[in-house]
Amino acid sequence: MNKHYDILIVGAGHAGAQAAIALRQQKFTGTIGLMGNEKYAPYERPPLSKEYLAGDKPFERIMLRPESFWGERDIELLTGHRVAKVDPMGQQVTLTSDEEVGFGKLIWATGGSPRMLDCPGNQARNIHAVRSRADVDKIMAALPTTENVIVVGGGYIGLEAAAVLTKLNKKVTIVETLDRVLSRVAGETLSRFYENEHRAQGVTIELEAMVESFETNDEGMATAAKLTDGRMLAGDMFIIGIGIIPETGPLVAAGAAGGNGVDVDQHCRTSLENVYAIGDCALHSNPFAGGALIRVESVQNAN
Ligand code: NAI
Repeated sequence: MNKHYDILIVGAGHAGAQAAIALRQQKFTGTIGLMGNEKYAPYERPPLSKEYLAGDKPFERIMLRPESFWGERDIELLTGHRVAKVDPMGQQVTLTSDEEVGFGKLIWATGGSPRMLDCPGNQARNIHAVRSRADVDKIMAALPTTENVIVVGGGYIGLEAAAVLTKLNKKVTIVETLDRVLSRVAGETLSRFYENEHRAQGVTIELEAMVESFETNDEGMATAAKLTDGRMLAGDMFIIGIGIIPETGPLVAAGAAGGNGVDVDQHCRTSLENVYAIGDCALHSNPFAGGALIRVESVQNAN
């Protein structure tokens, strides 16, 4: 790793990778560091809950670019690093390993981390998120000994995981707090369509239901989800898909304006000099939403 990059991109997901690619396409000749906290080169996330989980596509086929691409473009891929602190005045970041890396411009593209349930039993080993390759590898490794899956959240993650696992002959129950699935991203007609389709394929959907706690055994495994109405849903695997929390801690701690993500203007500039933010974590005034301040969690927005 260099001590300084003209442009340091933190976050090697869709947004960060595309920023690096676009810079080279636009003939930027300075040094670029593309830093990610996972140990893998940038890969597509949408297939994680679909073809990758289903075993239909190996990891090599969901990589954003072949491994050699980054070096050929003179983009230094810095995998397995996490930024702990941003010093905008000193133009440097400090990693959790205490290493310091300087930047001319910083592009914050850290996306979000899966929101997990904050309730008794939530640390059990068979409670999974679906956000990274590591999450899905853990789920896949446990599949041979899994029969009953409880999925918390009826969003994209919940519905996709339920669809794939049903195909793999698992018995799946979705627990959704609201009165319909996909309410964040779709109108009622689409919600009902997907509910019917999932039910027709054998998925049980519990609407207006909420997990209060997980029952656990001596091996640290959850055995059932207890709902607030007292019902117990027994399972041997639990998948949580209740949204993401934008990963903006170090930036906001450094003084960047933000709350729900980090605030950016129409040029993706944060309130800090030389610091930009893009992708899921960037809160912006969106012309397609009448100028409302929103984050858009999608690959298209990241790109
Ligand atoms: P989401 O926000 O789309 O859906 C979360 C669901 O969980 C909502 O229906 C919500 O009402 C429900 N919920 C919230 N709290 C709950 C609770 N305590 N108990 C039960 N239900 C609860 O988030 P999701 O599905 O976790 O997806 C995470 C991110 O990944 C999103 O940004 C999504 O857009 C993205 N994604 C994109 C895919 C793609 O193909 N482009 C595929 C899968 C996910």
